[in-house]
Amino acid sequence: MCGIVGYVGMRASQDVLMGGLKRLEYRGYDSAGVAILSTDGGLLAHKRAGKLSVLADDLDSRPLSSGTTGIAHTRWATHGAPTDANAHPHLADGGKLALIHNGIIENFQELKAELVAGGEEFLSETDSEVAALMLAREFRTHSNLTTAMQAVVGKLEGAFTLLAVHTDAPGVVVGARRNSPLVVGLGDGENFLGSDVAAFVAYTQKALALGQDQIVTITPESVSVITFEGDPVTPAEFTIDWDASAAEKGGWSSFMAKEISEEPEAVANTLRGRLGADGVVTLPELDVLFAGDATISRIIFIACGTAAYAAMLGAYAIEKWSGIPVSVELSHEFRYRDPAVGAGTLVVSVSQSGETMDTLMAVRYAAEKGAKTLSICNTQGATIPRESDAALYTFAGPEVAVASTKAFLSQVVASYLLGMYLGQRNGVLGESESKKLADDFDALPAQLEEMVETGPRIKELAGWMADTRSVLYLGRHVGYPVALEGALKLKELAYIHAEGFAAGELKHGPIALIEPGQIVFVIVPSPRDPSSLHSKVVSNIQEIRARGARVIAIAEKGDAAVLPFADEVIQIPLASSFMEPLLAVVPLHIFGMELAGAKGLDIDQPRNLAKSVTVE
Ligand code: F6R
Repeated sequence: MCGIVGYVGMRASQDVLMGGLKRLEYRGYDSAGVAILSTDGGLLAHKRAGKLSVLADDLDSRPLSSGTTGIAHTRWATHGAPTDANAHPHLADGGKLALIHNGIIENFQELKAELVAGGEEFLSETDSEVAALMLAREFRTHSNLTTAMQAVVGKLEGAFTLLAVHTDAPGVVVGARRNSPLVVGLGDGENFLGSDVAAFVAYTQKALALGQDQIVTITPESVSVITFEGDPVTPAEFTIDWDASAAEKGGWSSFMAKEISEEPEAVANTLRGRLGADGVVTLPELDVLFAGDATISRIIFIACGTAAYAAMLGAYAIEKWSGIPVSVELSHEFRYRDPAVGAGTLVVSVSQSGETMDTLMAVRYAAEKGAKTLSICNTQGATIPRESDAALYTFAGPEVAVASTKAFLSQVVASYLLGMYLGQRNGVLGESESKKLADDFDALPAQLEEMVETGPRIKELAGWMADTRSVLYLGRHVGYPVALEGALKLKELAYIHAEGFAAGELKHGPIALIEPGQIVFVIVPSPRDPSSLHSKVVSNIQEIRARGARVIAIAEKGDAAVLPFADEVIQIPLASSFMEPLLAVVPLHIFGMELAGAKGLDIDQPRNLAKSVTVE
C-alpha cells in the first residue's frame, strides 16, 4: 500500500516522478505528492488529497521546477484521513528536507511525544511525520543523509519504506526498508527507486531488489547499499521481463477489461516450457526443496483474498494427484493460531504482488518453525519469493487493476503444475493421467478465449441487475472456490452484498436467504463427471427456484438438465473437472466489472482498497 518513487539523474524529475506515480497508483489513491530539489538549491513540494489526477492538474498549470532529483508518493491512508496535510511528502528542517513513507511506524506515539517535548511541531496526523522530523534532527548532527537515515531507522518499529532528499545533499536520494518493498532501477547517468519496478520500467529494465533492513543511497552515477548496521551489501541484479507497454491500458476502457482479455495468455505463459506434450512437468526451480533427500509429507497453502481461492483449487488438485495432505489457510489466521509446522511441511504462499504483509509474516513464521517455503508469485524481485526457499513464478504480466483477474488464473495453473510435479515425483500420478492433463491444458487457452467472448452477453445481464442489492453464488467441489471468487469480485467492485456458498451447505442455513427475485449464480459441474455432483447441484437449483430465486447457471454446453430450471445459462466448453473452474470464473470476473460499470463506479480503483496490502 502506498506507491513511492525516487529519481536522480539528468531528466526533469517532475515528469519521471509523475509517470512513476501513475504506474503505481493502484497501490493507493487517496492523495499524492511530490518534492523536487530545484536547480537553484531549494526544495519545492506539492501535495493534494484525491486521486493522482488532482495533483497532476495542479502541476500541469504550475510545474514545480526543472530539478533533476526528487521523490513522490501516492497514499493509502493508515494514520490520518486523506487530506492535503496528511499527504506525503512531509517536510522538516524549515522546508529543506522532504520524506515519504510506506508502511506503519508502530512506535510513533512515543516517538511523537519525545519530539513534541523537544519542541517539534507537527503539521499532520500521520505516523510518517515523526520520521521526517527525526531525520532532520539526525541530519543536523551527522551532515550526511545516509548516516542520518541509519540513525533514524534504528529507532523505528514496524514496517516502513522511507525515501528522503535534503537541499544540503543535492543529487542524492536515500531510501531504507523494513517489512515493506523497495527496488532500485539502474540507469545510465540516472538511478531510480520505486515500490515496484512499474515505477521505472519505462526507463530501464535493470533492477536490484533491496533486502530486509537495508539502506540505499542513489546519485546519478552510483548506487550504494548498506545494512541498518552500516555493513556494505551487493544486492543481486535482475532484468525485468516485461516492458512499459505491458502496463498501459492500450485502448481498453479499463485495466481490468484489458487484464480479463489477457487471461488466456496468462495461462499459456505460466504453462510455457513447464509441461511437455507427454504430461511431464519440469520445474527445476523446485529442486532446492528436495536437497539432501528431503521429503514433503504435508502441504499448507497460505494466502489472502483471491489468492486464497486459487490456493483452494490448487489444494484439491495437489491432494488428488500426489496423495500428499494439503490444507489452505488465510495467512493472517495461520500464524496466530500456533500451527504445528516443521520439517516435512511445505508451506506454499500464493501472492500476486509478493508483498502482502500478512502472507510475508506467515512465510517468515513457517520458516522459523523449520518448514520449507515455496512462493507462487507474479512479481519478480518481490519480498516473498526472495525470502522463500523456492519460487514458482506465474507469468501473468503486470496486473494493474486492483481486483485480481488474470493473476488468479495463473496462480491456479501454477498450483496445478505443482500438483502434477509432486504426483509424478512420488509416482502417484501415472503416465496416462499426466498425458490427459497435458491435453486438457493444451486446449485451455482457446477455451478461455471463448469465455472472454461471453463479454457482451454478461454486460447485458449486468445492465438489468444494476439495482440489485444482493447476489449469491453457489458451487460445489472445484465450483466452490469459484463461487467465493465471484462473490468477492462483486463486493469489491460493485459494492453489492454478495456471498459464495458451498452448494452442499445450502440446507444448513443459507437457503433461508432465498426470497422471490434473489439472484443466484450456480456453478454446475459437468454431467459427464462420474461423481453424482451434477445431479446434486441440479437439485439445489430446483430447491432455490421453488423459493423464487432467479438462477443464472454456468454450465457445460449441452447440459440439458439445467435448462428447465435456470433463468439464464452461460455455457462453458467441455473440459475436465479441474479445468472447469478456470473457465467458469471468467464470466464472473466480467460480471463484477460490468456491474460496477453499470453503476458508474471506478472499475480499476474501487473505494477503500489498494492492490498491494503491505500493512497488517
Ligand atoms: C481481490 C484481490 C485481493 C488479493 C489479495 C492478495 O480481487 O485482488 O483479494 O488477491 O489482497 O493479494 P496478493 O495476491 O498480492 O498477495
